[in-house]
Amino acid sequence: MNVLCIGAGYVGGPTMAMIAKQCPDVKVTVVDINADRIEAWKSDQLPIYEPGLLDVVKESRGRNLFFSTDVDTGIAEADMIFVSVNTPTKTFGQGAGRAADLQYWEKTARQILANSTSDKIVVEKSTLPVRTAAAMQRILDSGSGDVHFEVLSNPEFLAEGTAIADLESPDRVLIGGHDTARGQKAVQALVDLYATWVPRDRVLTTNVWSSELSKLAANAFLAQRVSSINSLSALCEATEADVAEVARAIGMDSRIGPRFLNASVGFGGSCFKKDILNLVYLCETYGLTDVADYWQQVVSMNAYQQNRFVANMISQMFNTVAGKVIAIYGFAFKADTGDTRESPAICISRQLVEERAEVVISDPQALENAEHDLSDIMDRIRLEKDPYEAARGAHAVAVLTEWDLYAELDFERVFEVMMKPAFIFDGRNCLDHKKLFDIGFNVFAVGKAALSHL
Ligand code: NAD
Ligand code: UGA
Repeated sequence: MNVLCIGAGYVGGPTMAMIAKQCPDVKVTVVDINADRIEAWKSDQLPIYEPGLLDVVKESRGRNLFFSTDVDTGIAEADMIFVSVNTPTKTFGQGAGRAADLQYWEKTARQILANSTSDKIVVEKSTLPVRTAAAMQRILDSGSGDVHFEVLSNPEFLAEGTAIADLESPDRVLIGGHDTARGQKAVQALVDLYATWVPRDRVLTTNVWSSELSKLAANAFLAQRVSSINSLSALCEATEADVAEVARAIGMDSRIGPRFLNASVGFGGSCFKKDILNLVYLCETYGLTDVADYWQQVVSMNAYQQNRFVANMISQMFNTVAGKVIAIYGFAFKADTGDTRESPAICISRQLVEERAEVVISDPQALENAEHDLSDIMDRIRLEKDPYEAARGAHAVAVLTEWDLYAELDFERVFEVMMKPAFIFDGRNCLDHKKLFDIGFNVFAVGKAALSHL
């Protein structure tokens, strides 16, 4: 079988590398219009940082895994086509700021139609609004030939930083197909592909619309947990309850469960906000304004948490950060990735620069992206990979990504090179606060009582 994936990004690249590794008899080709990205996939400097990915890619590259910019030939030769292009939030026209921008996806559909002379199974891998498969089918069926296209939904649930483990041993694989003979045959072909390495009882089949909606719902539920614990973190700070203790206490209830209850500076990443806004827009489109308002709150709470973090920094530092040096530890939206899309660090850095602070950003993987994200204010920002150097002369350190390396730093050394009084704002609750306080820092964590010498 020939498998093609259109879109060589955070999802297309790792997902196809895993299929190629697990199914050596299947030829897997990944295509993209971005030639630089494709070149990087062919090299040992992959275009994305993801632990373990290079080993998986190297295992199959040149054997049954290929990267190319020739989208047309890829389509012509494929039996099964995964569409894994970006579906960002629309920035213009109707639904701007909320609806999914489907222009890349639609271009792909038309390109598939134009280059197909044999039947294809077309698999939606991108996250899309419910009922997009119907639009996809309509475009594909608009041709004059007698080629048959069967559209399936197969959303991806991997998380960045753990993509390889998530792909190797997924909680479930979801496949949505139509309840027709051809639909079920296509579903079976995709089930068989995954069943090579995923236990059959974890491969779930549903109708197409349930599959499309489940992807948006899963992200909405995960983000809702983060917003819920973050909302309580504000109440903890006001009442001397400790959010980590509250999370532990509620998480031990097996109905609630312990995961995704870490209070933080807010969730980031390319998808949570985008997918919830997409859900909100969909609900509004169907006239379900109360449902839309309910989910909108998850996003609003996330913005509140980021704003609250900066407001607290300013108020603790004697109501001004103008002219003060602030070292940001971590710019990626979470640890173990270089991805900075929607990272809380972007909004926090911008607010601090607006307050006329001198911002020094440190991160082991994300400095290149940081430079790009803040390109319009780079004259006010310094990038410094070494966290000790970043802290030199700083009035405060703000930890915005929970990289292991920050917990392991020699904070006596950090304290020595900082201005006094020295402040630490731990936006990820990943440091030993008592130890920092004993060294002499004034420590402010999320959802915990302040440890201050002042
Ligand atoms: P990405 O931006 O990293 O990659 C998308 C790629 O598609 C880009 O390289 C772009 O050049 C390419 N592309 C766009 N139009 C094209 C075209 N017409 N022909 C060929 N290539 C084209 O995006 P991503 O993070 O991989 O996300 C892709 C989809 O998967 C999105 O819908 C996203 O919501 C979803 N998703 C992402 C994640 C994640 O962790 N990033 C997880 C699950 C689902
Ligand atoms: C998330 C989902 O976990 C994946 O299942 C999904 O496939 C993906 O979105 C997607 O559709 O793109 P990802 O964004 O890579 O994956 O990372 P998460 O681990 O979910 O973290 C998202 C954000 O929430 C991060 O900023 C993280 O720091 C934050 N978070 C997470 C918290 O603040 N607290 C927590 O307890 C957990």
